[in-house]
Amino acid sequence: SRRITVRDIAAAKERGEKWPMLTAYDAMTASVFDEAGIPVLLVGDSMGNCHLGYESTVPVTMDEITLLSAAVVRGTKRSLVVGDLPFGSYQEGPVQALRSATRLVKEAGVGAVKLEGGERSAEQVELLVSSGIPVMAHVGLTPQSVNAYGGYPVQGRGEEAAQQLLRDAKAVQDAGAFAVVLEAVPAELAAEVTRSLHIPTVGIGAGLECDAQVLVWTDMAGMTAGRVPKFVKQYLNMRELLGGAAKEFAQEVVGGTFPAEEHTFH
Ligand code: KIV
Ligand code: NA
Repeated sequence: SRRITVRDIAAAKERGEKWPMLTAYDAMTASVFDEAGIPVLLVGDSMGNCHLGYESTVPVTMDEITLLSAAVVRGTKRSLVVGDLPFGSYQEGPVQALRSATRLVKEAGVGAVKLEGGERSAEQVELLVSSGIPVMAHVGLTPQSVNAYGGYPVQGRGEEAAQQLLRDAKAVQDAGAFAVVLEAVPAELAAEVTRSLHIPTVGIGAGLECDAQVLVWTDMAGMTAGRVPKFVKQYLNMRELLGGAAKEFAQEVVGGTFPAEEHTFH
């Protein structure tokens, strides 16, 4: 069976079908999600927080995204792999964006890239798409702007902000994006954006009426330490399970019961 492509994504919107997206940062985890039938995997710059130990997505580099995107592509057979363009790899303009996106496509083998921004990134989206690279856009809360926001505030509240969000989503659609992430947006506004676009919206903290939903895998699996955002649902308590396994292993080593006879060569 072949890989999912952006044409399948467009067809799903026409049929009114919803779809899930998860992040992935390594081949083994990606293979689990591929086998589970998750059609789209995002190698998000959330790897900064979730995988690399940074405090935000801001420090993530093209080298890091390229290395982990290649791993996710190798670990999957069917999922469409989307590589996130990190902070500083596309803001200079369309030519820089094309250079960065081309590297991800050629060196990692991703089927699409994602970048943050609506109107402000429309020229970048247009050049990438006209060059043959499918683009997922990302509007609403854009975490690479954390230093400008001074945190991670909900976006699109109030009439003026709502109109700007609609203009941003339209701008990336007109520039040729195949989908757009809506992050931390009131559900009513996300529903209005979704109805007014012909490309799918991918919600995260954007209510039930988006065409697709995305979660950071370490959040949804309960691997993240400490507080998670309100929009996260934990489907598993992996941190507790994995920690429990590590403690059990430690106890058996200290107590001299591991390795047992069945784990031993003679
Ligand atoms: O980096 C990421 O994980 C993302 C998703 C939350 C959309 O951009
Ligand atoms: Na991201």
